[in-house]
Amino acid sequence: MYSPQHVLVAGGAGYIGSHVCKELSRRGYVPVVFDNLQYGHTDLVRWGDFILGDLGDPEQVRLAFSRYPISAVMHFAAYTFVGESVAEPDKYYNNNVTCTLNLLRTMHEYGVDRFIFSSSAAVYGEPKVMPIPEEHPQWPINPYGWTKFMVERIIDDFGRAYGLKSAALRYFNAAGADPDEETGERHDPETHLIPLVLQAAMGLRKNITVFGSDYDTPDGTCVRDYVHVADLADAHVLALEYLDDQSGKGNAHVFNLGNGQGFSVREVIETAKKVTGIDIPVATGERRAGDPSRLVASSDKVRKVLGWTPRYADLEQIVKTAWDWHRKDSNKDQTS
Ligand code: UFG
Repeated sequence: MYSPQHVLVAGGAGYIGSHVCKELSRRGYVPVVFDNLQYGHTDLVRWGDFILGDLGDPEQVRLAFSRYPISAVMHFAAYTFVGESVAEPDKYYNNNVTCTLNLLRTMHEYGVDRFIFSSSAAVYGEPKVMPIPEEHPQWPINPYGWTKFMVERIIDDFGRAYGLKSAALRYFNAAGADPDEETGERHDPETHLIPLVLQAAMGLRKNITVFGSDYDTPDGTCVRDYVHVADLADAHVLALEYLDDQSGKGNAHVFNLGNGQGFSVREVIETAKKVTGIDIPVATGERRAGDPSRLVASSDKVRKVLGWTPRYADLEQIVKTAWDWHRKDSNKDQTS
């Protein structure tokens, strides 16, 4: 008898994790969310069961595997504030590396051998070539990037030693929200450009500050590769299916996840003005420490190997879905 595959989604109550749960469920999988709710939100757990648990507690992790017939794991539960990782590296190495090791160890104990890992463009550090291919040298410039780098090494070794099949997906700038407005971005504190610009549009902050206007880029502001979160979600399921096809191999695969197109901070702000119809107040500030001037993915590999084709590659679509979500989400706060 056919029984759907259960996928443990660590960090599934968060921004990217919740979108992936929706996509898993749409494609016939059963997501099981495991989240400690430090940054996650129960109202974003709408697809699959929820386990309140912490990856730092091996017993709680074991409980998840003993309660459900888990056949694969997707791991989104990580701290992601670059500046904080510089100030508090212990916190980052503990949460992002040690807790991941607990998860991997438990997977091994329960014979679960497929793992999709949220990695980051931060593993590359200062890029030497653009667009950045997967084989670009890796030398992260902050502890956050090193935590992602280390987990990539660990899963590679687990592949060779224990047959773990894995895909590390190196996100560039995740942005946008579910086009059906069922889930979206809700960070506290918020540090990302697009939600901050939209908060300024809603009058929730007085302006958006451009961090540095003297970069060696066409308009002097940093260039990033914004990729829609629904397209990221799609890539996760494609990666899982790809691992399914790699029967018996303990291979560790890596894929960049970006559209391959860069937009400057000023271009993002102009797009947000157009989408919202609001003349968003802009201030120009100092550079933010640790920001590379340009980060653009080569997305050739993920397109070719996984057959990934982004559906929302257009920056206007990305900002529009974020705008719809943020307006809905802030109204919910006012009415609840
Ligand atoms: N920016 C501003 N003003 C703001 C916020 C951001 O000008 O108020 C600029 C940043 O300087 C940067 C761009 O907007 O040039 C994008 O910044 P985000 O904070 O939105 O995203 P990052 O590119 O810094 O970060 C992303 C991921 C991180 C990951 C990093 C890898 O969100 O998790 O890429 O370099 F670590």
